Amino acid sequence: MAEQRFDDTAPASLVIRQPDDWHVHLRDGAMMTQVLAHTARQFARAIVMPNLTPPVTTTQLANGYRERILAALPPGSTFEPLMAIYLTDHSQPDDIAEAFARGVAVACKLYPAHATTNSAAGVTDIRHCHAVLERMERIGMPLLVHGEVTRREVDIFDREAVFIDEVLAPALRDFPALKVVFEHITTADAANFVRDAPAHVAATITPHHLEINRTSLFEGGIRPHLYCLPVAKRESHRLALRRAATSGSAKFFLGTDSAPHAIGAKESACGCAGIFNAPVAMECYASVFEEEGALGRLEGFASEHGPAFYGLPLNPRRIRLERRAMEVPATIAAGDARIVPYHAGASLRWSFAGLADQA
Ligand code: NCD
Ligand code: ZN
Repeated sequence: MAEQRFDDTAPASLVIRQPDDWHVHLRDGAMMTQVLAHTARQFARAIVMPNLTPPVTTTQLANGYRERILAALPPGSTFEPLMAIYLTDHSQPDDIAEAFARGVAVACKLYPAHATTNSAAGVTDIRHCHAVLERMERIGMPLLVHGEVTRREVDIFDREAVFIDEVLAPALRDFPALKVVFEHITTADAANFVRDAPAHVAATITPHHLEINRTSLFEGGIRPHLYCLPVAKRESHRLALRRAATSGSAKFFLGTDSAPHAIGAKESACGCAGIFNAPVAMECYASVFEEEGALGRLEGFASEHGPAFYGLPLNPRRIRLERRAMEVPATIAAGDARIVPYHAGASLRWSFAGLADQA
C-alpha cells in the first residue's frame, strides 16, 4: 500500500544494531537450506517455529531440528536458531522444563488446533495445558501464542479479538506471572490489550501486517501471495499496528512470520496461508518506520526490545540499511520448487546493505 509521508530529514543510510527475528518459519529439508540463508543474512538470531510435519513437540525433536538448521547454514554464518516447542494436549511439564533448563528451547508455542498451517496436533482446549503453563510461569519460560479461536461460527476477521476475551485474558488471570508473546498481532484490539497488560506480556508485528490490509488481498483480483494467518484486517487495524510498532514501547518487537510455501501450494484451489518475506524483511520495516517519521525507533523495535523480553544479550554487530532501490525477484528457488517472495517484482525504497563493518 503506497504511503505518501516521508521524513525528508532522515539520513540516506542507517546503521543499527543487528536485529533478530522473533518469529520465523524455516521449514526443513531442501526448502530450509534455501530459505534459511535469507533469514541468516539479515538477522543474528531467530525463534524458529515448530510447526513441521510431524511437529517439534519434545526436547529431543527440538534438539534435532536445531542441529539440522546449524548444518544447513551458509559457510561462515554465525546465525543462531532459537527453538520453540509445539504444545499439544499431551505436553509434559518435565520435558518442557528440561528443554528450557538445558537451553534447547527458549519458549513454547501454543497453536489452537486447526488455527493455521500444520496445527492439527495443536491444543484443543487450553485447560489441557494447565500443568505445563503452571510450570512455565514458575520457571519464567515464555508462551508464544497464535491468538485465534477456531470455532466455525466465529468470523475469520474476528478470531483474534475473540481469542483475547475467551482464551488469553482468562489464561493471564489463571497465570498472572506467565510471560506471553502475542504473536503476529493484526488488530487494534490486540495492540491495545498488550499495551495495557503488564510488562511480561509483549507482541510481535510482521512487516506485511504493517503494509497491507484486507482490501489488498483482493486488489484487481485474488492475491494468494498476500494470504496469511491471522489474515490481514481492515485499514483502521493496520494503522493501529503502525502506531504500536513505532511507539517506542518495549512491548512490541520484530517477528516477520516469514512462512514460505512452494508456488503451487499458494496458487491453488485451496491455497496455503503464509507470506515469504525473509528476503525483504528489514527493507519493509525501514520503509514503514520512515513513513511514520520514526526511523530513530527502528533499532529499539528490531534489535533491543526482543532481547530485553527474552533476557538475552544485545547483538554486538551492526547492520547498514540504505535508502536506495532494491529490486525484488519474481521468484526464488527453494529445493525443487520456487517461492514467490513478498513484494515480488517490486522496487523497494530501502536496501539491506549487510554488516556495517563489511559494507
Ligand atoms: C504459517 C505457516 O505457513 O507455517 N502461516 C501463516 O500464514 N503465518 C503459520 C502461522 O504462523 O500461522
Ligand atoms: Zn508463524
